[in-house]
Amino acid sequence: MKLFLDTADFSEIQKAYLTGLIDGVTTNPTLGLKAGKTLYGIAGDILQACPTIESVSCEVVADTAAEMLDQAQTFLPLGEAVTIKVPCTIEGLKACRFLAEDGIKTNVTLVFSVAQAILAAKAGATYISPFVGRCNDNSFSGVELVRAIANTYATQRVSTQILAASLRDVHHVSRCFAYGADVCTLPPKVFWKMYEHVLTDQGLAQFENDWATANQPFK
Ligand code: E4P
Repeated sequence: MKLFLDTADFSEIQKAYLTGLIDGVTTNPTLGLKAGKTLYGIAGDILQACPTIESVSCEVVADTAAEMLDQAQTFLPLGEAVTIKVPCTIEGLKACRFLAEDGIKTNVTLVFSVAQAILAAKAGATYISPFVGRCNDNSFSGVELVRAIANTYATQRVSTQILAASLRDVHHVSRCFAYGADVCTLPPKVFWKMYEHVLTDQGLAQFENDWATANQPFK
């Protein structure tokens, strides 16, 4: 059960990494644009500051497998945790197969069906990213998609890991893990919300109060 952070904001990544609870990072061109940096620059910063991280997804965007592989070459020297994120298209899957045969980690992104997840596994993907929130935006259940993929992979003994993405709230995270996701990638605000519970706050307030009272000098 692994948690990745879904952001290109370096200060957010550093802060969450210091908790020791973050296993990887996913980025995409939109997140890079928001952070005002190239994905290459962001990946380099992350790999330098977070040495124990297992995976940093670096997305390639092109029409042909050959162009995707060219783009991948710019990221690969950054380190072993570099994971090349390819789209779930025929060209993306060709690039995935080629990279997988070379022992390079891959993440097939923009997965919206079990059929796509099957092809990605056949292409040797390390991870696949079903987009839970975007399924829900389009009136079908993202967590049910995760469950269906997990059942298929378990039946077929597939080693590709399910990396649930496009998660918008804590409830999605709990459901995805319960339904068989191997990894959830979380926007920072969802990660920090996972700690929160009103009963924890209430209980702690009482314990603090009772601690202070119990430790007063006896009269
Ligand atoms: C991560 O790999 C995805 O690119 C990301 O989770 C997409 O999230 P969004 O649908 O909220 O843009």
